[in-house]
Amino acid sequence: MTDAGSAARTRPLNEQVALVTGSSRGIGRAIAERLATQVAAVVVNYHSNADDAAQVVKTIQAAGADAVAVRADIGDVAQVRGLFDSAHEHFGGLDIIVHNAATASFGPLAEATDDDFDLIFTANARATFLVLREAATRVREAGRIVFVSSGVTATHRPGTGLYAAGKAAGEQLVRVLARELGSRAITVNSVLPGATRTEALATSGDPTMIEQVAALTPLGRIGEPADLADIVGFLVSHDARWVTGQSLHAGGGLF
Ligand SMILES: NC(=O)c1ccc[n+]([C@@H]2O[C@H](COP(=O)([O-])OP(=O)(O)OC[C@H]3O[C@@H](n4cnc5c(N)ncnc54)[C@H](OP(=O)(O)O)[C@@H]3O)[C@@H](O)[C@H]2O)c1
Repeated sequence: MTDAGSAARTRPLNEQVALVTGSSRGIGRAIAERLATQVAAVVVNYHSNADDAAQVVKTIQAAGADAVAVRADIGDVAQVRGLFDSAHEHFGGLDIIVHNAATASFGPLAEATDDDFDLIFTANARATFLVLREAATRVREAGRIVFVSSGVTATHRPGTGLYAAGKAAGEQLVRVLARELGSRAITVNSVLPGATRTEALATSGDPTMIEQVAALTPLGRIGEPADLADIVGFLVSHDARWVTGQSLHAGGGLF
């Protein structure tokens, strides 16, 4: 029996190089540290928290993988190109790209300003376009691209309009890119976290929200960054070679 996925995967996972955008904190950090247990090297991208990113690099190196922190605003085309160039300069190429960095903002559409639209679409739709476009030409044969979206694209809750629309644009790009890169055995998928315990959630406004979401969630709690990291760890593995163009709902059954 032949296994086209195996044949196309030219590099063993433990020799691969991963890039995780927004991995100085939160879900991105958990993903970077999880991938470090599977791959040879991780590029830790951050925007402003250099100390946090340096800490992630240390943790990864202590676990036996190589790592470098690279500052880049993923809403800026030149900085996104520079980020991918850095990955190439440090580690010779990329096999796995996880686009996780984002900016959230909530409020009724009737009160949203033009500036709110530009800010959220730059940090989400435009940034995802810039990262996926670069990933499409830089990822090696049989590589993996994962986009961290949000369950808001499935729940349609009041106040999430701009953020959900920015993320939904990214999910659409993922579905199309999966079809464009399939002939190179590259998979492209979205993961949709539900509410997950990070700084972003803690500062999002309503302190009762965590309890409310936990009560509504079939699995009875909100997510932890490690829940998402394990899913991404699966999606980048050889075991997930037959999954592409999908939006994976990761919210404990809430959506
Ligand atoms: N937490 C949740 O409940 C939840 C739910 C659904 C979906 N998500 C999604 O999960 C992802 C991670 O969320 P999180 O809660 O872990 O966020 P977080 O704790 O706020 O961390 C955000 C990360 O993104 C980086 N970042 C922000 N803007 C950036 C930019 N312009 N360029 C480069 N890096 C940037 C930050 O870097 P600095 O440290 O340098 O600022 C940080 O590493 C996001 O895509 C979010 O939409 C989260």
